[in-house]
Amino acid sequence: KKVVLAYSGGLDTSIIIPWLKENYNNCEVIAVSADVGQGTELDGLEEKAIKTGASKLYILDLKDEFVEDYIYPCLKANAVYEDVYLLGTAFARPLIGKKLVEIAQQEGADAICHGCTGKGNDQVRFELAIKAFAPEMPIIAPWRTWELKSRDDEIDYAQAHQIPLKINRETNYSKDKNLWHLSHEGLDLEDPQNEPKYDEILEMGVTPEQAPDTPTYITLTFESGIPTALNGEKLGGQAMVTKLNEIGGANGIGLIDMVENRLVGMKSRGVYETPGGTILYKAHQLLESITLDKETMHYKQGVAIKFGEILYNGQWFTPLREALSAFVDKVSENVSGEVKLKLYKGNITPASITSPYTLYSEQIASFGEDDSYDQNDSAGFINLFGLPIKVAAMQKKTWNKK
Ligand code: ARG
Ligand code: SIN
Repeated sequence: KKVVLAYSGGLDTSIIIPWLKENYNNCEVIAVSADVGQGTELDGLEEKAIKTGASKLYILDLKDEFVEDYIYPCLKANAVYEDVYLLGTAFARPLIGKKLVEIAQQEGADAICHGCTGKGNDQVRFELAIKAFAPEMPIIAPWRTWELKSRDDEIDYAQAHQIPLKINRETNYSKDKNLWHLSHEGLDLEDPQNEPKYDEILEMGVTPEQAPDTPTYITLTFESGIPTALNGEKLGGQAMVTKLNEIGGANGIGLIDMVENRLVGMKSRGVYETPGGTILYKAHQLLESITLDKETMHYKQGVAIKFGEILYNGQWFTPLREALSAFVDKVSENVSGEVKLKLYKGNITPASITSPYTLYSEQIASFGEDDSYDQNDSAGFINLFGLPIKVAAMQKKTWNKK
C-alpha cells in the first residue's frame, strides 16, 4: 500500500508519517512538498521526511505556475474575500491538490493524505481539487479521525516518536507561507479583543511605525490586467511579487487583521501579511478606473465578490470559475498602462495613472471651457432621471395616511 502525503515538514504533517505507518499496515509514505515560495521552510526537508519514515520526498517547484495561472487571474478579477482577505492560502490549494493527484497517479498510490484539520477551509480546498482530477481516490485526513485533540497532544506524540521539532509550545501560531502571503492564526489571536503582537510576529515586513520617514515611489506597468514591469524593468510573475514584497514590507504595507467566516460556518480570526499583493491590487484597480467603462466596471465588482467566494471555498476547478475567468479576460483586454504609487508608512497613495486606452477625457470632465458637453442637456436628463422621485413625492400628498 502506498500513500501520497501533502507534506510541509511542520508539526501536523511530520507526525502524520509515523501515524500512517502505524494505522495503515506499515504503508509506504511518499511525501510531496509543493514549493509555492515558502522559502526557508523547505531547507532540510528531505532529510527530515526520510528520518520521519517517508520513502521519498518530492519537492515540486510550482512558483511560476502559482503566480501566472492562479494568482494573476484572481488579481485581474480583483477577487477578495469579505472585502479584505487577499486569499493567499486559498490560491495555492487547488494547484497543490492537482499536483498531488499527478504524483499519486504516477506512483500508483492507493490514497492521498493531508494534514488539514476538520475545522478549516484547507481540507475542503484540497479535497475538491483532488476530486476534480481523481474522483475515486480515497482521501485520508488524520485530523478527523485520530485521538490527538490539540497541538499539545501532537507535540507529545512527536516527542514519543522522536520527531525533531523547530517549534516550542508558546510560539506555535498556525502559519501558512507562500510567495503571496503569510497567515497567522491561533494562540492569543483567537480572541479578537487582543491586538496582534506585530513586533513579534511579522516576517515579511515592518509595522508602519517602523517604516522609513520618506516615501518610496514605484511605477507598475500592466498589459491586459497583468503586471509586466516594475520601474520600467520587465519582470516575470515570481520576480514581480518577490520584489514588491520587499518594497511593500519595508514600507509597512499589507497588514490585514480580520475575523472571517470560514466555509464550515465558524468565524475565525487571522492576521495576514500581503505586502506585494496589496500593492498589485491597488495599482490594478487604479488602472481599471480609467480603462473600464462604467457599466462593465460596476458589473465586474459583483464578479469580484463571487470570484473571491469561489476561490475561498475551493471551487477553482468548476465551470462557473472558468466562465467568470473568461469574462474577466475579455473585459481586461484594454487594462494596460502605467500606475505610479507613493508608498509611505503602510499607505499606498496614487501618484499617476496613464493608459494608451484611457477612457478619461479631460476635455469632457474639465471645469474649464468646453464645447463638446452641453450643460443645457442636463436639465432634461435630470427631469427624467428624477421622475420617479418627483411623482412619488406628489402622490404622497394625496394619501390620507395617519
Ligand atoms: N484562514 C485562511 C484561509 O482560509 C488561512 C488559512 C491558513 N491555513 C493554514 N493551514 N495555516 O485561507
Ligand atoms: C486548518 O484547519 O487546517 C487550517 C485552517 C484552515 O484550513 O482554514
